[in-house]
Amino acid sequence: MDNFILHLKDGILSLKSWVINMYYTKIRRPQYRNTLKFAVITDPHYLYDPEDDPEHEDATQGSRLFWKSGGKLDHFVERINSMSDDLKCVIGLGDMIDSYNSENDTSGFFDRWDNIQIPKEMTIGNHDVAGIDDISDLESGFGYESRDKNAGSRFNQSLSIDNDFISAKIILVDTTINHEGEHNARIYGYMSESVRGWVESEIDNSNADIFFVGLHHGPHDYTLNGSDYFDEDDAKAYESMVQNRDERIITLHGHNHYKQNRIAHDNLDIIGRIAPATVERNPSYFMIVEITPNGKVIYNNSLVKY
Ligand SMILES: [Fe+2]
Repeated sequence: MDNFILHLKDGILSLKSWVINMYYTKIRRPQYRNTLKFAVITDPHYLYDPEDDPEHEDATQGSRLFWKSGGKLDHFVERINSMSDDLKCVIGLGDMIDSYNSENDTSGFFDRWDNIQIPKEMTIGNHDVAGIDDISDLESGFGYESRDKNAGSRFNQSLSIDNDFISAKIILVDTTINHEGEHNARIYGYMSESVRGWVESEIDNSNADIFFVGLHHGPHDYTLNGSDYFDEDDAKAYESMVQNRDERIITLHGHNHYKQNRIAHDNLDIIGRIAPATVERNPSYFMIVEITPNGKVIYNNSLVKY
C-alpha cells in the first residue's frame, strides 16, 4: 500500500513537471520564449554566531531570522545552480553580511557565494560597512581588492549579459559613500555627482538594449514614511538623469526589506515589486528578472526555504 502511494506521488509529480514543461515550451506565447534572465538577491544579512541555533540570543530580531541565514544561502545557491543553464548571472544588492567585523566570521557567506556556478557580482550596503576599521578590510574580505576603483569605490562595477535576441547592462552602485568620499553605515544612501557621472559613462559606453542600475539604498525612497533613506539632492539628480536619457533604465534596490515596491522604469514609472529581504521570515525570496526578446521585463519572486 505504501509503495502504491509513493508511486502515485511520483506519478503526480512527473505529470506536474510535464505540464509545466509543456506550458513553457509549447503553450506560452512566443514572446515569452528566448528570454534573458538574471537573479537578484538582496539583504541576506549573513550572521555567523546564531547560525543554525534558534536558541542563540541573536537568533532573531523581529522578523529577521539570523539563525537561518546560512541555511537560506545554501538553498539559494542550490536553486541558482539548478537553473544555471537558464540564468546569465546573479547580482547582490548589499547587506550581504549583517556586519563585517572581527566578531562575525564571514567565511560562511563567502564559501557559499563562491559556490555559485554562474557569473555573479554584488554591491554593498550599510550593514556590510558596519563596524569596519578600514575599507581595504572589506575590499579584501569580499575579494574585490584587485578591482579598479570606479568613482571612488571598488564596489561600483558593471556586467553585460545577452542572448541572440536582446542585451542588457547591469550597473551596480555603491551608495554607502558620503559626500566626503568616505564609506559609512548610515541607513541613508548617497549617489554623488562623480558616481552619477560614472553611471552615465557606463551607459554611454554600451549598446545594450536595456540598463539596470542595482543599488542598496533606494533613491526613490528619500521621503519614505517621513524619514530620509537617501540624500534628497542626490536622489533628485539621479531621477533627473534617468528621465533625461533616451535609454531604458530600470532601478533595482534593497535596504528597506518590505517596502521595495519601487522599480523605476521608463522615466521612473513605478511598475512592480521586487523581492523582500532574504533575512526576513521563512520562507523568503530572491527574484528572477526575465527580459523578453521584445523588451518586456517580467519580475518573479522565487522562494528560499530553510
Ligand atoms: Fe540596508
